[in-house]
Amino acid sequence: MKRLTVPKIQGMKGGEPIVMLTAYTARMAQLLDPHCDILLVGDSLAQVIYGLPSTVPVTLDMMCAHGAAVVRGSWHSVVVIDMPFGSYEASPAQAFESAARILKETGAAAVKLEGGEAMAETIAFLTARGIPVMAHVGLTPQAVNALGGYAARGKSEAEAAKILADARAVADAGAFAVVLEGVMEEIAVEATKSVACPTIGIGASAQCDGQVLVIDDMLGMFERTPRFVKKFDDLAGRITSAAEAYAADVRARTFPTEAQIYRRK
Ligand code: KIV
Ligand code: NA
Repeated sequence: MKRLTVPKIQGMKGGEPIVMLTAYTARMAQLLDPHCDILLVGDSLAQVIYGLPSTVPVTLDMMCAHGAAVVRGSWHSVVVIDMPFGSYEASPAQAFESAARILKETGAAAVKLEGGEAMAETIAFLTARGIPVMAHVGLTPQAVNALGGYAARGKSEAEAAKILADARAVADAGAFAVVLEGVMEEIAVEATKSVACPTIGIGASAQCDGQVLVIDDMLGMFERTPRFVKKFDDLAGRITSAAEAYAADVRARTFPTEAQIYRRK
C-alpha cells in the first residue's frame, strides 16, 4: 500500500471523514496504521509516555525520537509530528529550523503547531518552503499557563469570534488542515463550513472533516478521562488483570510450565 500524502488529505475536505489517532511507538503505529489516514505524534506524549504534568517541558529530541519510531512502524498513514513548546514561537526562521530538523530526522511528512492569527505568518513561511503545516486552535494545551487550565473554549461571543478568526487565519496562511480542540459545537460547525482546509475535531463536533483522539485515552488506559473522550476499550483493566494473573502464577510456581521451558533432547 502506498503512503497517503498531504494533498490527498487536503482533498478529503467535505468528503469521507479523516481518521486520525496519536501514536508514540513503532508497534502501536503498526497496529493503528491500516485503520487511519493520519498518525499524529502528539506532544501529549508528555503525559501519556513521560508522566509530565503538561506538554510545556517536551523537547525536540523527544519528538524526533518518537516521530522516527512511528514513521518506521507505518507505511500507509500520513505521519504528522507536533512541534514542541518553545521550538517555533519566536520567529518563522526558528520554526523553519525546528521543523526542518523534525522532517529530516524522522521522515515524517508534516508538522503541527499551536496557535491562530499569531502563527499565520509562520505557517505561510513554512508552507512556502516545502513544509506542510497542520494548525491547532481553540484549546491549545501548550498555552496552559496563560489559559489557566484545560476548560473548553468559546463560551463567550468574543472568545467564539476569536477562535473562528484563528481558524480562518491559519487556513488562509496555507495550513493543510486544522485541529479544533475543546470548542463549543457551533464554533466547530461554523469553522468547518468557512475554511478551505479540512478541520479535525477533538472535543468539537461530528461535523468536522475528521476526528482525532489520544490513543491511550480511547483505549481506556486512564481511570479518569475528559468528557470528549469515548473509551473504545478498557486496557487499564485488562492490563491489571494480566499483571494479577502473572503475579499469582509466579508466586504459585505455576509459571513457567513444560510449554515454556527448554530441555536437553
Ligand atoms: O498532542 C496531541 O495529542 C494533540 C492532539 C490531541 C490533537 O495535539
Ligand atoms: Na499536541
